[in-house]
Amino acid sequence: MSEKELSPETLVVSAGRPPVEDDAGINSAISMNATRHAGGSIGYGRYGNENWSALEAAIGALEGGKTLVFSSGNAAISAVFSLLPIGSVITASHQGYSGVMTLLKTLEAAGRIEVRYVDVSNTVEVLDALPGTSLLWLESPTNPMLDIADLPTLINAAKKAGVGVGIDNTFATPLNQNPLSMGADIVMHSVTKFISGHSDILMGSLSTNDLALFARLEEVRKFNGAIAGPFESWLALRGLRTLAVRLERGQSSALELAKRLSVHPAVYRVHYPGLVSDPHHNLAKSFMKGFGAVFSFELHAGAKAADTLCSSSLLISNATSLGGVETLWERRRRWSGESSSVPESLIRVSVGCENIEDLWADIDQGLKRIK
Ligand SMILES: Cc1ncc(COP(=O)(O)O)c(C=O)c1O
Repeated sequence: MSEKELSPETLVVSAGRPPVEDDAGINSAISMNATRHAGGSIGYGRYGNENWSALEAAIGALEGGKTLVFSSGNAAISAVFSLLPIGSVITASHQGYSGVMTLLKTLEAAGRIEVRYVDVSNTVEVLDALPGTSLLWLESPTNPMLDIADLPTLINAAKKAGVGVGIDNTFATPLNQNPLSMGADIVMHSVTKFISGHSDILMGSLSTNDLALFARLEEVRKFNGAIAGPFESWLALRGLRTLAVRLERGQSSALELAKRLSVHPAVYRVHYPGLVSDPHHNLAKSFMKGFGAVFSFELHAGAKAADTLCSSSLLISNATSLGGVETLWERRRRWSGESSSVPESLIRVSVGCENIEDLWADIDQGLKRIK
């Protein structure tokens, strides 16, 4: 069977395997080589690696584009931004992942770029910002508010206006949406999160169908040097093998917890596009295959109560990051870099693979303490 005939749930298991030969391993060996004999196509450890290639083949098959892996998600995004001529305008979310917001603000302060910050869920506002923009950089769903951008409309409009489009697909994963198939130029992942799935490595990826753009990004990786380790790449591919089952469990538990929290008296508001009552539900449903395993919620009792709740859990870890097999939560405004438009009491939850009733019991006992 050709890869094109296989479903994504199969591809996560089958893509990026070594060729079938007698006694060959079904997994790639870990290639820990900085130095190589002359005469081959790789040449040096900063230029290529068999474990990068295996992971790139798998992510590429899932996203439908040629893929490059980097040392982190932020390194991958930096590679994209580094291609923009000085003075270029980027249109981006006013409250995406805080590490990317800080990166944008640093580039702006250095006079490298100009940024138009928009509410990505306000389609008219994004469309109005497009004239004169070089790159539309969108997260959807956004971190940590779970806002949804109308990706089909925005990508289509940006392409018509000659604006490059990059989508951070970290929250959705390649199983819930594929922006390249909607016409985006670049899809980015923090591989650190759902793709690797075990909270033990940092990596990022970029996928594109534009071969000239791919070549430029590969040059940036070679010479800026933000390369992934072979062992990390091997671990990420090992983690990817279970993405479909991890995500299925995580997003069904996320929906159930979001439902229970949305009727809890201590909870002011839940943000999760999977809830029918969520303002983004219908839009998300129109182009996403699933709603993901991250949601956030606000408490009536404010920031101090949110800190108490996060530190009172017995099972859920009070820790930053997301996309692992273990459930994590944190109050996002504990970070000084988080946008001031994110509510002070907002707790982001990344739902893992534990038993749903164990998770609920942990949340419920914590909520009782803040009454
Ligand atoms: C949506 C999103 N994009 C990018 C990043 C950055 O990825 P990394 O931590 O792998 O550099 C993160 C990290 O949390 C993220 O949540």
